[in-house]
Order: sequence, then structure tokens, then C-alpha cells
Amino acid sequence: MRKIFVSPSILSADFARLEKECKSLEKSGADWIHCDVMDGKFVPNISFGLPVLKSIRKCVVIPLDVHLMIEEPIRYVKQFAEIGANIITFHIEAAQDVKATADLIRSCGKKVGLSVKPNTPVEDLLPYKGLFDMVLIMSVEPGFGGQKFIESSVDKIRKARELFPDALIEVDGGINADTAKFVTEAGADVIVAGNAVMQAHNRKDVIENLRKL
Ligand code: DX5
Ligand code: ZN
Repeated sequence: MRKIFVSPSILSADFARLEKECKSLEKSGADWIHCDVMDGKFVPNISFGLPVLKSIRKCVVIPLDVHLMIEEPIRYVKQFAEIGANIITFHIEAAQDVKATADLIRSCGKKVGLSVKPNTPVEDLLPYKGLFDMVLIMSVEPGFGGQKFIESSVDKIRKARELFPDALIEVDGGINADTAKFVTEAGADVIVAGNAVMQAHNRKDVIENLRKL
């Protein structure tokens, strides 16, 4: 059976207790920790950046799945690689030179993720086939946690699965036990969940549930 990875997003964490939050996710069986970096320009919100990730890296050993929602991500690739990001995902809409950005991430020895916003067709990734390890399908407009899952994302996941059989397909936004079922059936390998995991009374149960196909 296909392995489903769960990557809880710490955007909905209590930032005053970040070490505790990250350790609790690791103990609860999270495969990765999803870190949403925002610049207030590519998306209308500002979250956290390099120094925070550097501290998180010291608290847990599971991979850091870094989702860059910033303009011209190439400017910061080396620094995110240096602080210990394992997967660096950027938006096709935010990069002037997608190939150069992907190549730089690879040359730093990191996995490359390429993301599309809800209104960007997944076919736009075709020219870059082979340059990335993971496709991130946004199932909400990026910028905020706790939004409602956009249902047309399921078709996009199916399409991505078909076009990029060798890449992991990650989905991010509005995922809970119900929507997780649809997206994994459509071919998603990696489930990002913010509110569903962080607000849960028992994180371990929720993570296990999300992983169930
Ligand atoms: C939104 C972020 C998501 C967000 C998901 O821009 O990329 O990772 O934290 O939060 P939920 O799961 O609550 O929709
Ligand atoms: Zn994200």
C-alpha cells in the first residue's frame, strides 16, 4: 500500500510555545513539519522566517517541509538550506526563473517542491517536469489557515498524479478527516493539516486518521 505522509502546519501553533508544539507533533507521529513562510507581498500575511526555523531545527529530527510563500524565492534558497530545511517548496507564480530556482535547491542537496495556487492550472508545471520532487497543490488561497477546502482541487490532484507519476503530490489547505479521504483517493501522497491537527485534543489520533486511506 502507498505511504501517506502527514505534514502538520505550525501556522496554527501557539508561537509562544513553539518548542513544545513541535515536539508534540513529532511524538504524535507527524512525518514532517510543514513551515509556512510568508512575506506579506506574495500573500497578504506575514508569518515567520529563518531564525524561527533555525530554532525549530534544533527541537526535532523529522524533516522540515518548508513552504515558501515569498516573491523571488531564489534570493533565500541558500539560507533556508543552511538552516536545515529538508524540502523547499516555492510557487511557480512567485519565481521569475523557475528552473534556476529549482536547480539551486537541488544543488544545495534539498528536495524541490513546486506549488500552484488554486487558479493556476497544474499543466503550467509541465515545462519543469523532472526538475522537482514534489508538486504542492494549494486547496485554499495561500496566506491563512482555517479556510474552507476548494473542491475543484480534487481534480487537480488527479491530473497532477497522471502528469507527474514520479513526483510526490502534496495538498495544503482545509484538510480534515473528510477532505483527506477525497485527496488521498485522488492520488495525494502528502497531507498538510494546520487547524485539524493543532486544535485537536488528541493529535496522535487525528494524524493517524488523516493517514488512513
Ligand atoms: C496556507 C498555508 C497552509 C495552512 C493550512 O497558506 O499554506 O499550510 O497552514 O491550514 P489549514 O489546514 O488550517 O487550512
Ligand atoms: Zn502551507
